[in-house]
Amino acid sequence: MELTRRQLGTLVGAALLTPYLPARPASAATAWQLMWAPEASSVGLGAFETIEDDRADSHPAGQPHIFAEGNNFRFNMHTVDRDSMTDRQRQEVTGTRNPSGYLQWLKGETWRVTYSMFIPSSLKATTTFTHISQTKMPGTGTNPITVTSLRRVDGVQTIEHKIFQSDILVGRTNLEPLQDKWIDAEYEIKIGDGSAGSVRWVLRDGATTLVDATKTGDTFLGDRVRPKWGIYRSLGDTSGSLQNCYMLLTNMRAYKQVAAVATRLEAENATISQGVVESNHAGFSGTGFVNTDNAAGCYVQWTHTASAAGPATLTIRYANGTTVDRPMDVTVNGVVVASGLSFGGTGAWTTWASKSVNATLVAGANTVRVTGATANGCPNLDYLEVLV
Ligand code: GCU
Ligand code: CA
Repeated sequence: MELTRRQLGTLVGAALLTPYLPARPASAATAWQLMWAPEASSVGLGAFETIEDDRADSHPAGQPHIFAEGNNFRFNMHTVDRDSMTDRQRQEVTGTRNPSGYLQWLKGETWRVTYSMFIPSSLKATTTFTHISQTKMPGTGTNPITVTSLRRVDGVQTIEHKIFQSDILVGRTNLEPLQDKWIDAEYEIKIGDGSAGSVRWVLRDGATTLVDATKTGDTFLGDRVRPKWGIYRSLGDTSGSLQNCYMLLTNMRAYKQVAAVATRLEAENATISQGVVESNHAGFSGTGFVNTDNAAGCYVQWTHTASAAGPATLTIRYANGTTVDRPMDVTVNGVVVASGLSFGGTGAWTTWASKSVNATLVAGANTVRVTGATANGCPNLDYLEVLV
């Protein structure tokens, strides 16, 4: 999803992080909280916890190999570059850093990273390893946890994602159709031992999803998890694929999965136009429900104070003891978010059901109004629940 300038501005200030909620059922108990949204043009390599730019100082003339170029992070690799282990090359950044410090991805947590990536045709898949992203634990000498790699499979260039230790292939697709253009990656890691861990890897070319796969596997080695990006490749390639190359990344975002917060606002406490509070049909929450007149234009309006701007799921609990639909228009801050939303018969006035709609809230006061769209008025209304 595209973030608004306001959301980004909030994040750059790093004071208040905006929740990000993809479309999801109202019953979902979790939400994604945006934790990191570095703009290369403003924070540069300060976006990362550590920078491994030619750490063996093998090619001073090529430095810096890693830098912000416009709003992209750029990683250059020359054939002469050598890592401290001289059978390989490494130009990588590690971790996710905000002005207030670096983020810790801990055991039991679930993190999501999204970014756009440009792989030129000069950055080729190889017969040995060419990792362009990894997760690792801090310190040296440990294996990766997960790797995104450019690998030749039966002579074909592919891009793949693996859980490294147990060699679990999460997904793989052909690389060549994806080179020399911007593609979108999404990576989700549930950090846990053994089957408590899992990884989801998504690769998109514009509107086309090429891979969207989830695999269970060990994602915790003994310390916190850090993502890495860049080019880390073996010189052992036998396909002649090693040449001067680069990679670009932009639009990098990290989200942490958090418990969703639901706020219930009873209809009997809301602003009512053409209706009364009653309590004669059991099963409502609070002290009653609103029975509107049987008239188009009757409404109930709630005010919800949001701590941050962003998407929310609005759930309306209602009963309709008739067999005739009672459609309502739902507006948020005066803007229609659902027109003629159906509120069909629930079987009895004592049988309550819920209907949800997604909307974007502003920080502070938000008015949510449901208006009867037909001469039958609204169904009986119990409450509005706001999930962020
Ligand atoms: C009945 C019912 C009310 C309801 C009304 C209606 O009178 O008891 O709770 O609001 O029908 O049709 O709107
Ligand atoms: Ca009524």
